[in-house]
Amino acid sequence: MSVAPVNSATPVDTYSPTAQLSIRNVSKVFWGKKDLFSKLAGKKSRDFVAIENISLDIEPNTFVSIIGPSGCGKSTLLNMIAGLSDITAGEILFNNHPITGPGPDRGMVFQNYALMPWMTVEENIRFAVETVYPKWSDKQKNRAIKEHIQLVGLTGAERKHPHELSGGMRQRVGIARALAFSPQILLMDEPFGALDALTRGFLQDEIERIWEQERKTVIMITHSIEEALLLSDRIVMMTRGPAARVDEVLEVPFPRPRNREIIDQHPAYHDLKAEMESHLYRETRAVEEARISG
Ligand SMILES: Nc1ncnc2c1ncn2[C@@H]1O[C@H](COP(=O)(O)OP(=O)(O)OP(=O)(O)O)[C@@H](O)[C@H]1O
Ligand SMILES: [Mg+2]
Repeated sequence: MSVAPVNSATPVDTYSPTAQLSIRNVSKVFWGKKDLFSKLAGKKSRDFVAIENISLDIEPNTFVSIIGPSGCGKSTLLNMIAGLSDITAGEILFNNHPITGPGPDRGMVFQNYALMPWMTVEENIRFAVETVYPKWSDKQKNRAIKEHIQLVGLTGAERKHPHELSGGMRQRVGIARALAFSPQILLMDEPFGALDALTRGFLQDEIERIWEQERKTVIMITHSIEEALLLSDRIVMMTRGPAARVDEVLEVPFPRPRNREIIDQHPAYHDLKAEMESHLYRETRAVEEARISG
């Protein structure tokens, strides 16, 4: 199991043959507007290199967190893995096949929940299952929905609409919806970012429990060092943008199942935490300095 960043000069045959997801020399450019209307309106808009030459191999059943300063390109990378955003250069292989669009093999949990407001908890999850597996029997669909409502602790709230739920409950629906069609990889973009500290803590514990049970490959973006250390096997630290890269990949050696008290006692905990803090401080300070100077 490794998530070694692969140097851009490394020949292709050094990529891990067992990687479930292989990000190979991937760059992302957001092109400036070049349409006639923008030209006539005198609008100048430059191309923006968000990510430059990122390579990363992710083995199956690994929990990987991505951490980096705001605006560095974390969501951009995750969206390319999800197939929601084009890859400008390089390729992302999933089970050795290039990703060309979204697919049922990847489930996404969004920061802002992205639930259908007119549908109940149960209907939101059913909609995802029916979209991905229209041919499943009613019995199969019902079982998947029920199991996942139970898994995230929402039994009893099946008939509630999103506006009747707390933020934490909405995010539980998002997680159940992403898991209910059995994706091979769960992608989470700051899943707990909008929650208060206590709810966030509860949900992190839930995710740890669910991960123990399901052992799916997870790629999670987070701004929280403690969250990354509690949940991850590997932590990918990205540099600031533009042209963001992977700076380093940390291995998290804590045994599982984990809880906060146990990992806090682990001899490696404070060194890993200090390393992440200094990375984030350095990169964020450089962003601020660039903003002030120009
Ligand atoms: N559609 C777009 N068009 C142009 N630029 C974009 C677009 N989407 C993102 N960007 C730019 O790409 C860079 C990376 O954005 P991204 O949303 O991936 O950052 P992030 O690391 O997820 O940030 P945050 O932690 O704040 O969520 C930013 O500078 C952003 O302004
Ligand atoms: Mg983001």
